[in-house]
Amino acid sequence: MNSLASVLKKKKILIFGAGFSGKKIAMEMRNIGFEAFTSSRSVKYDKWSFLYDSNNNDLPPDEIFKGVTHILSCMPPNKDGSDPLLSKLENKLLDLNLEWAGYLSTTGVYGNTFGEWVSENDPANPVQERSKRRLLCEEKWINTSLPTQIFRLPGIYGPGRSTLDSILKNNIKVIFKENQVFSRVHVADIANAIIYLILNQNKFTFHKIINIADDNPCSQIEVIRYSYQLLRMQMPEKIDFEEAKKNLSPIALSFWEENRRVSNSLLCKELGYQLIHKDYKSGLQNCLKYLKLTN
Ligand SMILES: NC(=O)c1ccc[n+]([C@@H]2O[C@H](COP(=O)([O-])OP(=O)(O)OC[C@H]3O[C@@H](n4cnc5c(N)ncnc54)[C@H](OP(=O)(O)O)[C@@H]3O)[C@@H](O)[C@H]2O)c1
Repeated sequence: MNSLASVLKKKKILIFGAGFSGKKIAMEMRNIGFEAFTSSRSVKYDKWSFLYDSNNNDLPPDEIFKGVTHILSCMPPNKDGSDPLLSKLENKLLDLNLEWAGYLSTTGVYGNTFGEWVSENDPANPVQERSKRRLLCEEKWINTSLPTQIFRLPGIYGPGRSTLDSILKNNIKVIFKENQVFSRVHVADIANAIIYLILNQNKFTFHKIINIADDNPCSQIEVIRYSYQLLRMQMPEKIDFEEAKKNLSPIALSFWEENRRVSNSLLCKELGYQLIHKDYKSGLQNCLKYLKLTN
């Protein structure tokens, strides 16, 4: 066992919500020597998996909590704005004497900044109902006495969930909206940044809210154009937003109603985290490699 693994020998994390990010984070945590268990609502995937659904009354078995040092919630808010973990298990978590608790949130809580940069120092100003619910959950987490860090995330992409996959599934609209930008983050950077912060927890000032985003907010059409190039396919004619919006679902439309550049300055400058994928080009090249390996 190498020295890092031996230091981490006794660390155990429960990751609630083993979706796209939760699974990747669990895998990377195991790679550095953590015991990482993941919840899902219906299926026990493997020996690390346990069942948890905040909408029913079955709680995880007691033995799963034995020796837990860290927890991470990757679950969105319940429809009534309550938090799917704290609403059921807050007291249990308080009893664990945790070293660290993480919560994946969204940059949607910042609302619309009309293309301006936004950082953790700016007040939250959510517009969408789902972002208001999210802010309520953040407040819940902040108000517990757990050693909580909240990670505000923009659009998450990575292998198996990127514009490359959308193009190949014929599930993409090439929409153009003047001056509209989106921020994004590759899932590997969510996992890696969280690990970096956990491993350096005693070295840095403890920040309760941290954005994890890449360096390069930009238009969606720029990303789509590059994706077509990588796939060596011809990009279809772009559709003007005013035309396209007639056929967008309310949820898709809501994403176009907000325009912001999310700053990663706290994470990358102040705390010294080095992004694996600084921009969508690097991130999509990684996704393409995965596509080639799996097809
Ligand atoms: N996707 C994005 O671009 C994006 C951007 C910013 C922030 N976020 C937020 O970041 C977090 C992680 O995102 P993701 O895209 O990786 O998530 P995801 O793939 O949608 O996975 C969400 C996980 O939460 C679990 N879950 C949902 N409701 C639950 C409940 N009531 N009780 C128990 N488990 C529940 C799901 O369980 P099952 O596995 O059983 O379905 C799933 O494992 C989420 O909170 C998400 O809203 C996402």
